[in-house]
Amino acid sequence: MSHNRSITWLRLGVLYFAFAVGVGIAMGAYGNHLLMPVHAHLNLLGWVSMALFALIGHLYPAVHQGPLATVQFWTYNIGVPVMLTALVLRLNGVAAAEPVIGFASVAIGVSVALFGWLVVLTRARPMRAPSSATMHADIAPSALAAR
Ligand code: HEM
Ligand code: HEM
Repeated sequence: MSHNRSITWLRLGVLYFAFAVGVGIAMGAYGNHLLMPVHAHLNLLGWVSMALFALIGHLYPAVHQGPLATVQFWTYNIGVPVMLTALVLRLNGVAAAEPVIGFASVAIGVSVALFGWLVVLTRARPMRAPSSATMHADIAPSALAAR
């Protein structure tokens, strides 16, 4: 389950990466940098942060488990596209999009806080480094003594 969610985060991140770089290329090609903050946050909230969620969840699978992790997943995956779509509208002069950006950014903030909670306070336990005895059980002093 957590493994699947890491893969889902990675796939979502790659989608954002492709889209963000497409926007970057278009900005450069048309010489119009109006969407620069959208490009930047597609890359950073999308590609970079999602790839980190994937990697961290792969290292510490408990971070992606349980109902809080599900809330973390959905608040982020609703908040980011809603915020960035509203930002595109706002940058094109649609003032009514402003409160939508505000609410969506709070949803992202909730997700980030939940992620912090899951990582630091509750679930992320480091993988225990194998002791030399378990790594080299066959040549550990106790094993040799038993021979
Ligand atoms: C082929 C790939 C890319 C192209 C063509 C591209 C293009 C651009 C362009 C034209 C700007 C606007 C610069 C300005 O108006 O000052 C920009 C800004 C930015 N890009 Fe990209 N970009 C690419 C990839 C990336 C990636 C992979 C990231 C992050 C992981 C990234 C992060 C940013 C950021 C943070 C800014 C804002 C910089 C600032 O505050 O001045 N870009 N990019
Ligand atoms: C809910 C989440 C976030 C909100 C509401 C937010 C909001 C903002 C705002 C208001 C600006 C100033 C834009 C301007 O002056 O035109 C900005 C710029 C920037 N933010 Fe964020 N940010 C968020 C998340 C992030 C994250 C997670 C990263 C990095 C991993 C990031 C990196 C940047 C960078 C590099 C800039 C300067 C480039 C630009 O102006 O677009 N932001 N952000």
